Amino acid sequence: MKVCVVGSGGREHALALALARTAEVVVTPGNPGMAGTSPEGFPITVTDAPATAIDAGLVVVGPEQPLVEGLADRLRAEGRLVFGPGADGARLEGSKAFMKELLSEAGVPTARYGVFDEAAPARAFLRELPGPWVVKTDGLAAGKGVLVTDSMAEAQADVDAKLSGTAFGEAGRTVVVEEGLAGTECSLLALCDGRRVAPLPVAQDFKRLRDGDDGPNTGGMGAYSPVPAVDDAVVDRVMDEAVEPLLAALRRRGVDYRGVLYAGLMLTAEGPRVLEYNVRFGDPEAQVVLPRIEEDLAGLLAEAAAGRLRTDPRPARTAAVCVVVAAPGYPAAPRTGEVIGGLAEAGEVPGVTVLHAGTALDEEGRLVSAGGRVLGVRAVAADLATARRRAYEAVDRIDWPDMCARRDVAEAAVALAAGMGTVPAPAVEGAR
Ligand code: AMP
Ligand code: GLY
Repeated sequence: MKVCVVGSGGREHALALALARTAEVVVTPGNPGMAGTSPEGFPITVTDAPATAIDAGLVVVGPEQPLVEGLADRLRAEGRLVFGPGADGARLEGSKAFMKELLSEAGVPTARYGVFDEAAPARAFLRELPGPWVVKTDGLAAGKGVLVTDSMAEAQADVDAKLSGTAFGEAGRTVVVEEGLAGTECSLLALCDGRRVAPLPVAQDFKRLRDGDDGPNTGGMGAYSPVPAVDDAVVDRVMDEAVEPLLAALRRRGVDYRGVLYAGLMLTAEGPRVLEYNVRFGDPEAQVVLPRIEEDLAGLLAEAAAGRLRTDPRPARTAAVCVVVAAPGYPAAPRTGEVIGGLAEAGEVPGVTVLHAGTALDEEGRLVSAGGRVLGVRAVAADLATARRRAYEAVDRIDWPDMCARRDVAEAAVALAAGMGTVPAPAVEGAR
């Protein structure tokens, strides 16, 4: 089979490599680091041609933006097999107000919230909440439209900046104001075929820019899987309380959802709460989840796309850690055009793959930064501690003095796993 992957980031590089275990892959628009041949001998090619012009048996749409804009609908209208929801399902991520409405309708546990397009009632609602306070853009903002703060003044100023359009343009003209929840965050991604849903291995993402969860929210600075703090019982509970009811609510609205349902969760003292739903693989969660799926990924995604998800994905007894290497100035103003070296040396560390995200070749053919998140250094090993050690060994081989990477990805998880005496068994009990 030939599979077309739409997108150009680290998630799409990870998708291309995982799909190329069993299929020929073509990526559009891709990036300079993706092209090659997989260890299994399948070619990965990169093209500028639009997905509609690529002859492939399956199209996998990576990012949310084209899904929200209806790319999956256009391809399906041409009779193509597509993994990714139509615009009706993608609205779940395209509008946080719609998502919260659907969660309420489905009875899914989530933070208390209000939706506002005027400042005065938003400020009044903030005053009703105990704090910390959360202010989100309704529309897409590449993971950067969320403020979580202990300062009422900051929350109020953020409401003004978003609603006025100065901070996020049209995406911020409506805001969702929420109570701040405390607990452990994790990401549970599930494959959906419209009716049936199957959980994938659980991952944890590092949203903040700096060590110790300090600094602004980003698209994600690293991830690991499995998550020692999340056992099978938690996964079962989330599937029962959050994922199945949401899929049922979508169906009641006539949405035939085929793709990934990604639940961003906060495990609070009162139980799991959904912070958000995304309509695609997480980035960088995909980088650590995909190598832990033992089945033929192309076959699995084709089953879901065809509305016939029969195979139960089983997590491998391995661990994966991905450290994101970002450009200086990310997320506000990443410096592009910086020359990066040492990738071959990094890739020689056992189990390590350097995934490309925001890279380009300059006119002299040198690899340079071309975006905010530039590389994902991923290690897969028998346990989290080894994967983490190898990922950082590889990061340290990258020659880019100004690069920006967190040093604490999976640190607490490794300590927790050590305290448990072992890396816990995979947290997913097959499909449902
Ligand atoms: P979202 O895009 O909605 O997932 O928000 C991005 C990040 O903001 C999440 O991963 C959390 O770290 C944080 N966040 C979002 N909503 C809340 C909330 N209600 N309470 C605490 N933190 C939150
Ligand atoms: N890593 C967070 C996301 O993909 O939305």
